[in-house]
Amino acid sequence: MKGIVFTEFLDLVEEKFGLGMVDQIIEQSELPSNGVYTSIGTYSFAEMLQLIQNLSANTGLSIDQLLLAYGEHFFNVIENSYPGLLATYKDPIEMLSSIENHIHIEVRKIYPDAELPTFEVLEKSDQHLVMIYMSSRAMHHFGLGLMNRTFAHFEMTSNIQIEKIKEDGTEVKFTIHKT
Ligand code: HEM
Repeated sequence: MKGIVFTEFLDLVEEKFGLGMVDQIIEQSELPSNGVYTSIGTYSFAEMLQLIQNLSANTGLSIDQLLLAYGEHFFNVIENSYPGLLATYKDPIEMLSSIENHIHIEVRKIYPDAELPTFEVLEKSDQHLVMIYMSSRAMHHFGLGLMNRTFAHFEMTSNIQIEKIKEDGTEVKFTIHKT
């Protein structure tokens, strides 16, 4: 997992819960990196899992709630870092249906070792999109946060349903409608 995912996560934890919480979750986790991340480095996903599990235990918020908020925050990072990539799109359904075949392909050119999910489009129209998310990281709520903010970026609203295909969340179905 890329360092930018860790540095932005810890920035958000500091902003929402304070520096004390950042120190606490780093101490509670067993981190080969010792909690020192650079945005261009690459670290084990197991470190992110521990940080988020400890944050969940300390705050009482679920992992899905935390990943949703983090996904919404991460969209700001994308808007600031990759404005050109977003400018290729005029519509949220077009953009979301292109993650697999365009957006994440570009991401992989920048970061060859990125750990990215797979999205498979099942249905698509002007008004709706059905796709399957697949990833061993089960970060579907991070994806939901990014999707919410994708609609906001185009000044549109949406109704997005998540249905688990595998109980552990490694495969889920997103049903997305413009509202
Ligand atoms: C992961 C970039 C759009 C879903 C990532 C990562 C980067 C990235 C850098 C981390 C890779 C790693 O840590 O190794 C981008 C950029 C985008 C974009 C630049 C737009 C220009 C989206 C959108 C979605 C999405 C719109 C909507 C669902 C995800 C998910 C992950 C991820 C769910 C977590 C990894 C996983 O689940 O396996 N993306 N992304 N991305 N991205 Fe994107």
